[in-house]
Amino acid sequence: MIKIAPSILSADFARLGEDIEDVRRGGADYLHFDVMDGEFVPNISIGVPVLNSVRRATDMILDVHLMIDRPVRYIDAFSKNGADIINVHVESDSPENIRAAVDRTLELGKRAAVTLKPKTPAEAVLPYLDDVSLVLLMTVEPGFGGQSFMYDMLDKIMKIRSWIDSRGLACELEVDGGINPYTAKLAAEAGANVLVAGSDVFKAADRGARIALLRKNAEEAARGGVKQK
Ligand code: DX5
Ligand code: ZN
Repeated sequence: MIKIAPSILSADFARLGEDIEDVRRGGADYLHFDVMDGEFVPNISIGVPVLNSVRRATDMILDVHLMIDRPVRYIDAFSKNGADIINVHVESDSPENIRAAVDRTLELGKRAAVTLKPKTPAEAVLPYLDDVSLVLLMTVEPGFGGQSFMYDMLDKIMKIRSWIDSRGLACELEVDGGINPYTAKLAAEAGANVLVAGSDVFKAADRGARIALLRKNAEEAARGGVKQK
């Protein structure tokens, strides 16, 4: 089953509660929460206090994407303030500290996830694959919404999907960046089952209809995709 995760990076922060309620009613599965520190990526977005408010405003599953240096320092804070899924970039610290971030997330009873930038090889997930509940693949350079999907990421999606399936893991495979009704099909056909969509959902006049369209296209493509062969 395909899950749609609207990214609030493209919401109107002055009316965030209403925008979140709109996508919840529109059938979104997860709410994607992009944290940027101006160091790991060249942009600054939102952090712990906003997460705390969002947690109190909705019961949606909060999928927190940490685009920050040395995220192990902040796992407790994001966990205590409402994250359900905590994504850390493998490029953001030493392997030992990424492992410590994953372990701490699990100790706190949250879902751990690792994330890869476009240029990072698929193999970088292997040390974590048996322990995480989700792998997040960037299909744009992280830092900004509204960029174009990188088609050369499709091979990486297929590769990681094949490892997940051959190991019999329940791990989800999420893609982030440039998702629209067309790229949703390609990503799902390649084996992604969670689609982050920022601008495509939040800029739509009818967000519920847009979420339904993304899901329909992706589910049709997944049925004919590599997974079913
Ligand atoms: C980019 C963020 C994305 C972003 C996606 O660094 O991680 O979640 O919001 O935006 P769109 O869907 O507009 O590409
Ligand atoms: Zn993101």
